[in-house]
Amino acid sequence: MFHLGVDYYPEQWPEERWPEDARMMAEAGVNVVRLAEFAWSRLESRPGQFDFDWLDGVLELLGQHDIRAVLGTPTASPPPWVMDMMPGAYRVLESGQRQTYGNRREYCPTHPGYRERCRAITEAMAEHYTEHPTVIGWQIDNELGGRCYCPICRASFQSWLERKYGSIERVNGAWGTAFWSHVYTEWSQIPVPLQAGGVPNPGLDLDYRRFMSDVYVSFQQEQVDVLRRLCPGQFVTHNMMGFGFDQIDYFDLADTLDFVGWDVYPRTAWSLDRHVDGLASALGGDTIRGLKGRGYWVMEQGSGSGGWQTVGGTPRPGEMRLWTYQSVAHGADGILYFRWRTAHHGAEQYWHGVLDHHGEPRRRYRELQTTGAELGRVGERFVGAESRARVAMLLSYDSRFAFQGQPNHSAFDYSEFFRSYYAALYRRNVPVDIVSPAADLSGYRLVLAPALHVLPAAVADNLRGYVGGGGALVVTARTGVKDESNAVVDVPLPGLLADVCGVEVEEYDALPTDAEVPLEVHWQRGSEEGCSASGRLWCEVLSTTTAREIATYEAEFYAGRAAITLNEFGKGKTLYVGTFGDAALHDLVVGWALEIADVSPVVVTPEGVEATERWRDDQRLLFLLNHADESQEITLPSPMTDLLSGRGPVERVKLEPKDVVILEQD
Ligand code: GLA
Ligand code: ZN
Repeated sequence: MFHLGVDYYPEQWPEERWPEDARMMAEAGVNVVRLAEFAWSRLESRPGQFDFDWLDGVLELLGQHDIRAVLGTPTASPPPWVMDMMPGAYRVLESGQRQTYGNRREYCPTHPGYRERCRAITEAMAEHYTEHPTVIGWQIDNELGGRCYCPICRASFQSWLERKYGSIERVNGAWGTAFWSHVYTEWSQIPVPLQAGGVPNPGLDLDYRRFMSDVYVSFQQEQVDVLRRLCPGQFVTHNMMGFGFDQIDYFDLADTLDFVGWDVYPRTAWSLDRHVDGLASALGGDTIRGLKGRGYWVMEQGSGSGGWQTVGGTPRPGEMRLWTYQSVAHGADGILYFRWRTAHHGAEQYWHGVLDHHGEPRRRYRELQTTGAELGRVGERFVGAESRARVAMLLSYDSRFAFQGQPNHSAFDYSEFFRSYYAALYRRNVPVDIVSPAADLSGYRLVLAPALHVLPAAVADNLRGYVGGGGALVVTARTGVKDESNAVVDVPLPGLLADVCGVEVEEYDALPTDAEVPLEVHWQRGSEEGCSASGRLWCEVLSTTTAREIATYEAEFYAGRAAITLNEFGKGKTLYVGTFGDAALHDLVVGWALEIADVSPVVVTPEGVEATERWRDDQRLLFLLNHADESQEITLPSPMTDLLSGRGPVERVKLEPKDVVILEQD
């Protein structure tokens, strides 16, 4: 069954309204709700005084309509009494300032007392709901994240280092503490990288970011353990924040979950763009799917204008449905809209849900009804369908964390750089898996590794094996610069990948942010001859060992020297791009890479129409998603059946603005 539902906060409404809510949900095709996620004070009003009666009542009502429930552990937002018990559990920000009560996520994830209370409420809920016929699964906490720099975290970091390095001498060696006389003789001397401390040692900085990531993974794991022990028949997930969130290694966080959940908000008050093009949600979905290499749930799908103090643009007619199918197209097996009804109170008064404040059915409710009815008919087809991308992008949290400390160029941002390469694939309708650098790459024809800055030997070997075996690889500037301790390597760049790339970086140059160095392109295959491209932000002067030149610089003292090269290595090929460049350059490079790897788009579409696919055995489901405000026509390479209308076979498809067509091919 395809799970379609809403995030519901019955504790924020009078009990008399609950039956009406349940009825309206059922009439809209809702078959699952998420509950209790922020209801700690209602579930445990005083230490150990649990009250589940009200939640039992809600579940009873939902059950009468065959609606299932996912329970949230409410640990993202503690009641005041929890924090009163332990003032030391407030999180300390990078600025050194300690948080106070009145928001959410103000807890220190290391604090043993806080963790104990979290285990206690989780245990009490788990014991009560383990056999409940309506409860199918659990979501842990809410959007974990927020680094803490408190004394407890500092002590815990020191123990983490002791476990990792074994001896203080090895820490000194790895971080090179001879620099500025930082040689530590006691674990207790090791600091945390507070802002006021200035520029920290890069080794310490990277380890602290890894440590904080591990803290959240273990915070989550404590609750996973409780639920595994007490609720073996129910699933466990967590709602992550897609590609954009960069403080936790999501590969680690996903590891012991049954499947990953995430939250999708295409329109919010923070970006009031009239047009939403689908790129961010596509990238988020592909990132989330890649964490476990399979389908996921959307725990929160935007269903109204999103805003806290200011209000975002409301979803245009058709967009809720469009975004729903876009999530499905990228791998969602279940989708819940945030939120059922817009709150009267609280910081999120202006974060609109399916129903507005008054609770009457309006346009967005009716759109949910349409989508609910469709998914009720055909949704089952999507559950468990695979994506089978031939192209992968490597997302390296080590590199991401290292660049957070040292972006190398003030205008360089690892996430933006990654997004720009991804965009070139997205706009061509080439499906992408986003995977860890340690992943098995043998199934891919093309792998892009944007700025693989921290390069462990095992990752270099993985890439060497992949290219040697016939794969195509794109490597960029600032790859292989750092070892695992965030020390700069003492061999010519790109370090451990120099042989695979067939180049050495002779020297490099950081450019003023608005400067460009034109490139002369020597690419000879395909149609891109005579194209213009530029080096930007960062230019590496390459000397080729075994590679050949694809583009050379046309200005600066390195005019005539190689900027982009192509190498044959084993049975495969590597493109090395020695400048950060801009979107136009990334687009050009991706075009070459696809040609080298012989990968074509799922279908060619006009601008604004996204196309991607999912597979069930030999059956292909082609999704056409019109993000544009104009209607569009597409000619299919062969006749296919229109899944939603049942029409077919069709060869020419017309999409109204914001419309979706799903085609089936046997
Ligand atoms: C996040 C959270 C929700 C809510 C929404 C809207 O995704 O998970 O609890 O705060 O944003 O702000
Ligand atoms: Zn802390």
